[in-house]
Amino acid sequence: MQNRLARIVRPDTRRTVMLAVDHGYFMGPTTRLEAPVTTIAPLLPFVDSLMLTRGVLRQAVPAAPTVPIVLRVSGGTSILASDLSNEGVTTTVKEALRLNAAAVALSIFVGSPHEHQTLLNLSTLVSEAEEYGVPVLAVTAVGKELEKRDARYLALACRIAAELGARLVKTYYCDGFEAVVAGCPVPLVVAGGPKLATEQDVFELTSRAIRQGAAGVDMGRNIWQHDYPTAMLQAIRQIVHHDASPHEAGEIFNQTRTQEMRPAAMR
Ligand code: R5P
Repeated sequence: MQNRLARIVRPDTRRTVMLAVDHGYFMGPTTRLEAPVTTIAPLLPFVDSLMLTRGVLRQAVPAAPTVPIVLRVSGGTSILASDLSNEGVTTTVKEALRLNAAAVALSIFVGSPHEHQTLLNLSTLVSEAEEYGVPVLAVTAVGKELEKRDARYLALACRIAAELGARLVKTYYCDGFEAVVAGCPVPLVVAGGPKLATEQDVFELTSRAIRQGAAGVDMGRNIWQHDYPTAMLQAIRQIVHHDASPHEAGEIFNQTRTQEMRPAAMR
């Protein structure tokens, strides 16, 4: 367990930059993640771990050099459904072990029509994964109800996730985030959510989350939907692992983006 956790949260900084590329499991070929191998390959040198499904792992990630894998093991709905909370467990712990995953990830939908089901999904997964020393990352999902992302709700969802045995929790940054951190006894990583207006907004969000106690990010669209994803990732790394300010991150972004060429078809 400790070995796997150390593959995700860097022991020297106690922080992590996870790249989330699991969106296809309910969103299909999301913009700029249509061909995961093309999106992921240039970003691999700059990530601490990758969060994805077994299908994308199989198709888009080389066996070497190795990158720690956080395997999404919940799903069962699509964006066409009115209620995204009706998830089950899609991948066994045995397969996660076979794929040498560093952790498994599952969404819970607190306050949703399938709250009970998804919380039992988490509990059952934790019981099974703990047997093999595999950490479970719980995602406090809100489905289409993005307005749910306030401190009161997220503190509730994160605490429940930890109480049921999650070793890591992925949530959203929000006003009053310190209260979410204070109520959750395990490391929290933050998602980015839908793409923000500017890269500076992303650096601000990341910096605030880190300063207020997050252990890092598990971010997707705000990195790979950007015109300069590797520059974004390198700037975010500086905030997460070296406490760079949003302004310093902006300077790093501007320096590194000049070296980054994105295929014209993807701009
Ligand atoms: C959503 O359920 C997925 O787990 C994503 O990995 C998560 O939302 C993080 O990605 P983003 O930063 O794009 O929100």
